[in-house]
Amino acid sequence: MNNYPQILFKNRRPGATAFLAEYEAGGGYQGLRAALKMAPQEVREQVKAANLRGRGGAGFPTGLKWSFFPTDQPGEKYLLANGDEMEPGTYKDHQLLLADPHQLVEGMAIAAYAMQIPVGYVFLRYAYETCAQNVERAIAEATGKGYLGRDILGSRFGFELHVHRSAGRYILGEETALINGLEGRRPNPRSKPPFPAQFGLFGKPTNVNNVETFANVPHIFTGGAEWYRSLARTPEGAGTLLVGLSGHLERTECFELPMGIPLREVVEQCGGGVRGRRTFKACLPGGASTPFLTAAQLDTPLDHVHMEQAGSRLGTAGITVFDETTCMVAATLNLARFFARESCGWCTPCRDGLPMVVWLLEEIEAGRGSQELLDMFRDQVKNISGRSFCALAEGAMGPVGSLLTKFGDELEDHVKRGRCPIS
Ligand SMILES: Cc1cc2nc3c(=O)[nH]c(=O)nc-3n(C[C@H](O)[C@H](O)[C@H](O)COP(=O)(O)O)c2cc1C
Ligand code: SF4
Repeated sequence: MNNYPQILFKNRRPGATAFLAEYEAGGGYQGLRAALKMAPQEVREQVKAANLRGRGGAGFPTGLKWSFFPTDQPGEKYLLANGDEMEPGTYKDHQLLLADPHQLVEGMAIAAYAMQIPVGYVFLRYAYETCAQNVERAIAEATGKGYLGRDILGSRFGFELHVHRSAGRYILGEETALINGLEGRRPNPRSKPPFPAQFGLFGKPTNVNNVETFANVPHIFTGGAEWYRSLARTPEGAGTLLVGLSGHLERTECFELPMGIPLREVVEQCGGGVRGRRTFKACLPGGASTPFLTAAQLDTPLDHVHMEQAGSRLGTAGITVFDETTCMVAATLNLARFFARESCGWCTPCRDGLPMVVWLLEEIEAGRGSQELLDMFRDQVKNISGRSFCALAEGAMGPVGSLLTKFGDELEDHVKRGRCPIS
């Protein structure tokens, strides 16, 4: 436990899951009751006023996304919760669903009402079987109490919710690939536009949000938009953030922290500092697809705006820390291998470019580099950036590109010495 305000993790107990009785005792489903008393448009406005931003990686403003949805269009429409969560270093949705799955159900019911959507799916990968069972139980309990199903709490609004277990690949987290996967098709991304809000699941209007994004929603209706914004340390941020720590720290756990908390406080207070009293060298602040930050940037607040000003992204707030014994070329190679393996193969810059990046980094790391290979590496990064069909390859260029800009001297050193200077 820590002294930071706990909203999403307030019912979290080691090895236990909060189901309906505990959830209701802590104020659960009061947010839904409050939202159902408002008009759907007011609900969307309140989410906008709370400045909730998506927790799935891109940080898109949630209320704004909901306001683009064709709410008045009759017929089939779908609401999807994205729980694919295969970004290395990211495990917060897993922790959330192990601890308190009703928050997702309630958040989705409010979102469904706000956009007048009758059917939803919670998309989870097969490895999250315990989470899937938790959500199934939460859905059954909520349906039994009239929080889901027809005529929710006498509002005349109905919403049914199902769990989908996927085969699980990184690309399935991309929302249009997820939709293809849910339809039983090969999960390569679709071109945008049309966006899912116009042409989504089975060609019908569809809204996709991350699991943690939905889980925040009930609290905006119990505490109010102003209170929710005030939870953050910076005016640019709002609410709390689930931060999963990994790498060379004394403590690697998932914490709920105020949005805008300085990175240094997270590393030193929550993570207990760098392992074995070593020195902080770099971190990935928001999952494997975000550019590295260095020790000089440790005072950056963890919110979307400040992270972008620092040249990186808040992403999924999965922070991986590297100490001074890390070879950044080897660390980046490890990440590049992941992205190359997870490429869906649909477009050339990613399918052919990422294996080339891997090969070049392998050569340089093994001491077989040359100025020519370094130039080829720079060209590859330039050729892939901004040219891929979806954001997977762009995400791969996050750490790879920042290896060049922040640790270019290490790359040069490998070539000059003909070996890795660290390992
Ligand atoms: C390769 C790739 C993988 C992604 N994986 C996830 C994921 O596991 N979970 C997630 O919520 N969003 C993921 N996203 C982002 C989604 O496409 C989408 O932006 C997000 O689910 C929207 O939810 P939000 O607005 O609540 O963040 C991924 C995107 C890409 C390009
Ligand atoms: S960038 Fe990669 S994952 Fe995305 S469409 Fe192209 S090949 Fe597929």
